[in-house]
Amino acid sequence: MTPLTLDAVSMEFANPKESATQALSDISLSIPEGELVSILGPSGCGKTTLLNILAGFLRPTGGAVTLGGQPIRGPGPDRGMVFQQGALFEWMSVRKNVDFGPRMRAIGRSDRNRVTDRLLEQTGLQGFAEKPVYALSGGMQQRVALARCLAGDPQVVLMDEPLGALDALTREKMQGLVLKLWKETGKTVILITHSVEEALLLGERLIVMAPRPGRLYREYRLPFAEAGVDADLRAIKARPDFAAHRDEILSLIWGMEEEIMGRSGVAA
Ligand SMILES: Nc1ncnc2c1ncn2[C@@H]1O[C@H](COP(=O)(O)OP(=O)(O)OP(=O)(O)O)[C@@H](O)[C@H]1O
Ligand SMILES: [Mg+2]
Repeated sequence: MTPLTLDAVSMEFANPKESATQALSDISLSIPEGELVSILGPSGCGKTTLLNILAGFLRPTGGAVTLGGQPIRGPGPDRGMVFQQGALFEWMSVRKNVDFGPRMRAIGRSDRNRVTDRLLEQTGLQGFAEKPVYALSGGMQQRVALARCLAGDPQVVLMDEPLGALDALTREKMQGLVLKLWKETGKTVILITHSVEEALLLGERLIVMAPRPGRLYREYRLPFAEAGVDADLRAIKARPDFAAHRDEILSLIWGMEEEIMGRSGVAA
């Protein structure tokens, strides 16, 4: 077990003309290897900032972040990122996108092809290897993004709204794919989403964040991700305990949104 830990992490952004933004305050968290964590919270509560700190794109202004006991000082191959959209090389083929990292590391063609072919199969993209990415649907492009992230064999997969730009049906299929890949690869996965249902389905552990300052607010341990690996996600959503959690978390988030609106003077 090599956990990912945050110890009293805070992040303050300086603003030229106004007071600084306290984007994150006192975040302490330990995520064991192989855990699937979903993070949910209203807009502006610091979710992307938190993920960027874990990726090493941002240095926190306070606290410490470690992976396997080593401080995170910048981006590294032990952490892979999947963005909402637009992070692929659109003019390149699916294969060239997926094996971009291994190619840059000068891994031989036959090894690369073996890994890429397996990933294309796992993500349901077999038969599309030589197609340019711009010719694929949004859902297929996100599968390419997942495969490309996994090609680097990271220990931790960080996803910022990876399914947010997809239509409802494609999104549901992709949620099943995320669960399947999590189970098959055993990787630690941290997924940010705006969707309460998605957070419930894709989090063994669901963390709700609150804004101003961005902080951890509540945490749930949930059975739905494990159950969803082999079951129809619609059936899981129909479970009474799923509905009860959904209602509870929706009320939580609604409460936060109302508080934000009230404070900023926008009509309630
Ligand atoms: N580079 C930056 N400089 C100044 N302020 C920033 C910067 N990045 C983020 N912030 C501020 O930090 C806060 C948290 O932003 P962040 O993007 O992490 O929120 P989020 O939870 O991901 O929101 P969303 O759900 O809308 O994506 C916001 O108030 C934002 O304006
Ligand atoms: Mg964000």
